Amino acid sequence: MHNLKRRSWAEPFKIKMVEPLKMTTREYREKVLKEAGYNTFLLKSEDVYIDLLTDSGTNAMSEYQWAGMMLGDEAYAGSKNFYHLEHNVQKYYGYKYLVPTHQGRGAEHLISKILIKKGDYIPGNMYFTTTRLHQELAGGTFIDVIIDEAHDPQNEHPFKGNIDLQKLEDLIKKVGPQKIPYVSVAATVNMAGGQPISMANLKQVRELTSKYGIKIILDATRAIENAYFIKIREEGYKDKSIEEILYEFCSYTDGATMSAKKDLLVNIGGFLALNDYDIFEEARNLVVVYEGLHTYGGLAGRDMEAMARGIEEAINYDHIRARIGQVEYVGQKLIDANIPIVRPIGGHAIFLDAKKFLPHIPQIQFPAQTLAAEIYLDSGVRTMERGIVSAGRNKETGDHYYPKLELVRLTFPRRVYTQAHCDVTIESIIEVFENRDSIRGLKMIYEPKYLRFFQARFERL
Ligand code: F0G
Repeated sequence: MHNLKRRSWAEPFKIKMVEPLKMTTREYREKVLKEAGYNTFLLKSEDVYIDLLTDSGTNAMSEYQWAGMMLGDEAYAGSKNFYHLEHNVQKYYGYKYLVPTHQGRGAEHLISKILIKKGDYIPGNMYFTTTRLHQELAGGTFIDVIIDEAHDPQNEHPFKGNIDLQKLEDLIKKVGPQKIPYVSVAATVNMAGGQPISMANLKQVRELTSKYGIKIILDATRAIENAYFIKIREEGYKDKSIEEILYEFCSYTDGATMSAKKDLLVNIGGFLALNDYDIFEEARNLVVVYEGLHTYGGLAGRDMEAMARGIEEAINYDHIRARIGQVEYVGQKLIDANIPIVRPIGGHAIFLDAKKFLPHIPQIQFPAQTLAAEIYLDSGVRTMERGIVSAGRNKETGDHYYPKLELVRLTFPRRVYTQAHCDVTIESIIEVFENRDSIRGLKMIYEPKYLRFFQARFERL
């Protein structure tokens, strides 16, 4: 297991520009939370003290990236920043062809439309909200083939993102390989708690899928964080660089969708990367319809430059160690205080186990949604529900999915908050935990049709 004994190391950067935060009172937060329908997505960011809603697009860029922004080549076609990005994707991720998109779901949309036919099945290591929705909108059905350990918050398996090869092969045999356009592999697995998949497992998935002529499409959103876990947890990778690990990892896949708003330290951007020329050709055609010309995909030249430079920084060991080290710092302190969190500690976030935290609130009263609201009330720290609200409804039966994992995510933007911010957050969660018995659940009073967690509204019971 990962050694958590910590010789204090500080962040490998210092702060050049600051962004003031507004301090609010509990009374004020009570009022704005009610106005926001007890949904942290509907709060105004101004009213948030420490924003742990997401690590997506919330990163602090470096001086090197900001300098690159000034070198934006804002040509409609053939921007030099596109070529820099293409070069770096080829060099670090190893894919041949690049189609930029405005963010991750833009790439998911394209690949789903190209590869999925009505009636297809897409197995994957746990669903992600936007990924699954695009697969469904293209006529496919997502099938979860992650190992069982991933659904158990207390299980200490070091690679809870692994695919269960038996489940995968059973599905292939049941529906036939021609009904499976690709396996959707995420690294790390967001909904499982930021848990990594091992190199050995991905290699086995490659061997199995090759036998049946099935592709693997990687969700590379946090693949650099995944590479770090391989380095520190997997036999044989201790002395390999993050760069070497990432390159080898991607080599077992046929393409990748990317939300650059995470690993790549930018505020906006994404891409679809491919090895197959024909699929690339189709993606290059479609991107023009939905995103923009194939050399900008809905982005400004400066955004592509920031992404290209972000790759160079994200791959740096000192960066990634400090990034995940911060998450581990918070997680370990919460474990020490007996707060129920998903184990082992994941890459981008700490996930509170709301079923254990609020055992008196049944899942249909949205315990994770409730807990996120209570944490905001206590301290102005904003977190996110990842449970029954996020899981949505079964498209056939119309029932709620009742996911085993009912979690609140404390997601850490990269290079943004200090250890003191972390301490304030930890203290607030401990406080809410001590007063948990008096917390009541919620009732949903407005439910959007797609990705309901973003805009749903609630009332206190
Ligand atoms: N895949 C994963 C694993 C993600 O975490 C996300 C976004 C996406 C794809 C979609 O990318 O937002 O750029 O369109 N996750 C964010 C989050 C929203 O907060 O976890 P996008």
